[in-house]
Amino acid sequence: MSQTPTTAPSRKENPRILIVGNAGQLGRELEKIFADVGPIIGVDRESVDLADAAQTRELVRRAAPDILLNAAAYTAVDRAESERDLAYAINEQAPRILAEEAFRRNSLFVHYSTDYIFDGGKTTSWVETDTPNPLNVYGASKLAGEQAVESVGGKFLTFRTSWVYGPHGNNFLLTMLRLARERDRLSIVDDQIGGPTTSVELARATYSIVNGVFAGRFGAPEDWTGLYHMTCSGSVSWFGFARAIFARAAELLDLKSPTLTAIATKDYPTPAARPRYSVLSNAKLQARFHVELSPWEAALEETLQILSTAG
Ligand SMILES: NC(=O)c1ccc[n+]([C@@H]2O[C@H](COP(=O)([O-])OP(=O)(O)OC[C@H]3O[C@@H](n4cnc5c(N)ncnc54)[C@H](OP(=O)(O)O)[C@@H]3O)[C@@H](O)[C@H]2O)c1
Repeated sequence: MSQTPTTAPSRKENPRILIVGNAGQLGRELEKIFADVGPIIGVDRESVDLADAAQTRELVRRAAPDILLNAAAYTAVDRAESERDLAYAINEQAPRILAEEAFRRNSLFVHYSTDYIFDGGKTTSWVETDTPNPLNVYGASKLAGEQAVESVGGKFLTFRTSWVYGPHGNNFLLTMLRLARERDRLSIVDDQIGGPTTSVELARATYSIVNGVFAGRFGAPEDWTGLYHMTCSGSVSWFGFARAIFARAAELLDLKSPTLTAIATKDYPTPAARPRYSVLSNAKLQARFHVELSPWEAALEETLQILSTAG
């Protein structure tokens, strides 16, 4: 049973912010955008091993944050099939401890989850009340994390997102750009449909919501605490996404486009099964917080522009 929060986060002038996983795709962007909100303590794997419960608890007690942003996760979807315990330690146990420590301090806890908690069996966008049924260990461990955070209660926001990429880190976009320099032809799966979402857009939306919460714009905690889908709008297959990447990268990054072939999932076997259709509806996020992320095409354009000026 979750406990109902009763008081709003204290409206401090300069809330202390702890960002766990600040070296990841999302963590880097959160650290940049929250810089004007208050003092930031950013931690990466060097500072804390989230698989270690005692270290994780001690981290929050020492940092004493007013806002705790958890951008860390075990995100190696295929490797998770053979590292189940580690995936659960980072994706379930660590968020539970972070949520407990945030609750003790009456802090706001922000957590992220994934479209891979769904089995992909729908043909219309998934809403928060749809029944999860993960197809792989990563999805199951992330679902367990969502449930752990909710069961702790307190003031939390869990944002489920999908197909995250950006100018840094391990992601589909950067993999495509690298492969294009190595190969003339690429075969890309065309029967998995999702919503590519940039780390930059996620950080912006999180910033806007957290600031609104702290300013009291969204009412009492029971009015906003909970789980929301947060993705760029629109949908596309991996093949369609790759085609869009190369259409613009040719011009912006002076990249020779490889010849693309659309293939079926069955022709590209991976250790972890993936949902065929995992587009997430953002209707709840928009209704509650009046926040709308960009269409995926615009977010891709922005990311390629960033890469083109990065040198
Ligand atoms: N990537 C996606 O496509 C995707 C899709 C849907 C949802 N999400 C969710 O979105 C959130 C952000 O994902 P992201 O793509 O930004 O992830 P990411 O780039 O893989 O970053 C995750 C961070 O967590 C750190 N981490 C992993 N294990 C750790 C440990 N034992 N101790 C300390 N740090 C550890 C990683 O450090 P190392 O780099 O050293 O391993 C990395 O910096 C996550 O909750 C993820 O589940 C991601």
